[in-house]
Amino acid sequence: MSDILQIKSVTKKFGNLVAVNDVSLSVKPGTIYALIGPNGSGKTTLVNCVVGLLRPDVGEVNIKGVNILEKPVVAKHLFSYVSDNPAIYPYLSGEEFIRLSGKLHGLSESVIDTRFSELKKIFPMADILETRTESYSRGNIEKTAFLSALISHPELLVIDEPIVGLDTASVEIFGRSLRRFVKQGSSVFISTHTLSFVEKFADTVGIIRNGTLVKEIPIGPKINLEDIYLKTTS
Ligand SMILES: Nc1ncnc2c1ncn2[C@@H]1O[C@H](COP(=O)(O)OP(=O)(O)OP(=O)(O)O)[C@@H](O)[C@H]1O
Ligand SMILES: [Mg+2]
Repeated sequence: MSDILQIKSVTKKFGNLVAVNDVSLSVKPGTIYALIGPNGSGKTTLVNCVVGLLRPDVGEVNIKGVNILEKPVVAKHLFSYVSDNPAIYPYLSGEEFIRLSGKLHGLSESVIDTRFSELKKIFPMADILETRTESYSRGNIEKTAFLSALISHPELLVIDEPIVGLDTASVEIFGRSLRRFVKQGSSVFISTHTLSFVEKFADTVGIIRNGTLVKEIPIGPKINLEDIYLKTTS
């Protein structure tokens, strides 16, 4: 099966700083690819190149064969993106924000109704979703952004450090919902610092250091990711 995400030889510089250095990787349909690496190693820069927020100096990104910069609208219909600092409108309720996301993807009211009634069951926050997001905690903002990304049933979900604000039970719910999501054939490209999450829920992990993808390994039952990570990045 062809890759849902292909990153080909991407380099991104900020002045003299090489934030991402000749990175190539691919994500297969039905899998979760986790990108890990120290602070400042280039994860967010790479994610921003993937979703078309940054233009690589060298290389290209294709979503299901569609170049993100050449055909951004076509490519953006294929994926949803949750940033590391999700911006959600403070004067809308969580439900209104999630529904708005569905409308922007061109979904009908009846499809939005059906999908929202499923989405609101994922986290135990149905009551919170009825209130304005201006009063939300960080974790609830992250959950709302995640749910809004799911409403379009994307083929690829790109998520930058999504679980910093989530409590332990919510991380588990989040991981299980990602597994259900990829079981239907969709894919996830996620950057995170939470190694236990990667060990439990990801299929493949890429380790990035100083902008370079230094290791890429499948997640197996006996993997000691902390050990591998520390040896690879120190
Ligand atoms: N807009 C920018 N202008 C200049 N330098 C930048 C810019 N964005 C990122 N950088 C630099 O690029 C490097 C990679 O940053 P990036 O945000 O991609 O790292 P990261 O792996 O996401 O880190 P973290 O784990 O803290 O989120 C860092 O040295 C950072 O200071
Ligand atoms: Mg980052």
